[in-house]
Amino acid sequence: MTPPALLSAALLLLLLPATLTDDGLVPFEVVVQNRLLGTTPQAYITHVKFGGILLGGLKRLMNSTNTFRFTYTEDPDYGPYLESVNGLARNDDDRTYWELLVKMTNGTIVRTNAGIGCYIPSENEQVILNF
Ligand SMILES: *[C@@H]1O[C@H](CO)[C@@H](O)[C@H](O)[C@H]1NC(C)=O
Ligand SMILES: *[C@@H]1O[C@H](CO)[C@@H](O)[C@H](O)[C@H]1NC(C)=O
Repeated sequence: MTPPALLSAALLLLLLPATLTDDGLVPFEVVVQNRLLGTTPQAYITHVKFGGILLGGLKRLMNSTNTFRFTYTEDPDYGPYLESVNGLARNDDDRTYWELLVKMTNGTIVRTNAGIGCYIPSENEQVILNF
């Protein structure tokens, strides 16, 4: 290839959005929302390796930004579940908890059928942590 052709090939690569095929990573969005207080939702981008679990993506996100924090505990039957997000903890007395919702790329919002330790995010979907 001539230098200009090389250059445009390199540019093209840079401009292509990240997809599964180039690096095996699955990018997705994490949205923290508080339906009780009606505060403005906060959105973050993170990723997991192909087939990776939500918990991994949340850990990666917490490691890459100082504006997202979460803690979790381990239930003997159901595995890890969210305890607090950005300093706000679930509370049995108040019957408040962090619900996991997913907005698929076609816009449909569903409750996940698995917790953070088992749920496998799909590319470009939005995982909503709803208080
Ligand atoms: C957190 O980030 C550092 C540096 O970016 C990296 O070395 C480390 O492996 C990361 N830890 C996790 C749990 O992702
Ligand atoms: C979106 O996709 C899901 C799963 O594939 C499907 O159940 C749902 O009906 C779809 N929603 C719309 C609006 O097409």
